[in-house]
Amino acid sequence: MKKLIVLTGSGISAESGIPTFRGTEGSLWEGTDVREVATAGCLEKNRDNTYAFYNMLRNKYKNCFPNYAHRAIASLEKDYDVTVITQNVDNLHEQAGSSKVLHLHGELMKCRAVDDPNLIYDIPVDEKGEYNIYPDTIIDEHNVRPHIVFFGEDVPNLGKAISLMLEADICIVVGTSFIVYPAAGLISYVPMGNPIYYIDLDPKPLYDYPDIKVLEMTASKGMKELLKVLQPEND
Ligand code: OAD
Repeated sequence: MKKLIVLTGSGISAESGIPTFRGTEGSLWEGTDVREVATAGCLEKNRDNTYAFYNMLRNKYKNCFPNYAHRAIASLEKDYDVTVITQNVDNLHEQAGSSKVLHLHGELMKCRAVDDPNLIYDIPVDEKGEYNIYPDTIIDEHNVRPHIVFFGEDVPNLGKAISLMLEADICIVVGTSFIVYPAAGLISYVPMGNPIYYIDLDPKPLYDYPDIKVLEMTASKGMKELLKVLQPEND
């Protein structure tokens, strides 16, 4: 099977009701100062606010469901060896049935041990049906923190992502502004000549990639169009 890599950003989850990071009508930051809750060192400087911010996001978006675009990507596994590399911290690709998902910026519904980044846990649900952790939460005798990659922190899955890109026969990019590095640089690793499709409502000009096929539309419309190309027998 051909290797298909799908690189996604927050635009793919917009139709599921999760705002993008830099949207005009309200953004995921909810008016919070990014430096306070999403920058390396925020756990030391703003511990309580940082935990509270991710508790708020988790509980606000816990009932969001995958949309057509997430499901279409999962359906490509019939015909391709698909890996999703996502900048998103939601788990909508997994909910849609994608079996290989690499999260570059962490996972909202998970936490990890402060003293061992390899110990990752699902955030337990409490009696009110909420998913909260606090600065003093202990799981398996470990104090835990949100499993989020803050700005300025290393991206532990970057090496894996680059290796996957280097083997991509086809690459699809959905709903990202190509602003945040190193994720934004990943398409440069797709072997020269292999097709890259970019679906976005407001695609960024990518002058270094004159052959990129741009679909200026919503994630779900774009994926519908792409399925016609990638799975023509189902059309
Ligand atoms: P952005 O908010 O920067 O960009 C979202 C992109 O989605 C934009 O290009 C929009 O045009 C597009 N978009 C919006 N609605 C769409 C729709 N319905 N269908 C298709 N496209 C749509 O979000 P990201 O590029 O994901 O990092 O941001 C990258 C990183 O910056 C995030 O992972 C996060 C953030 O700060 C960390 O948290 C470390």
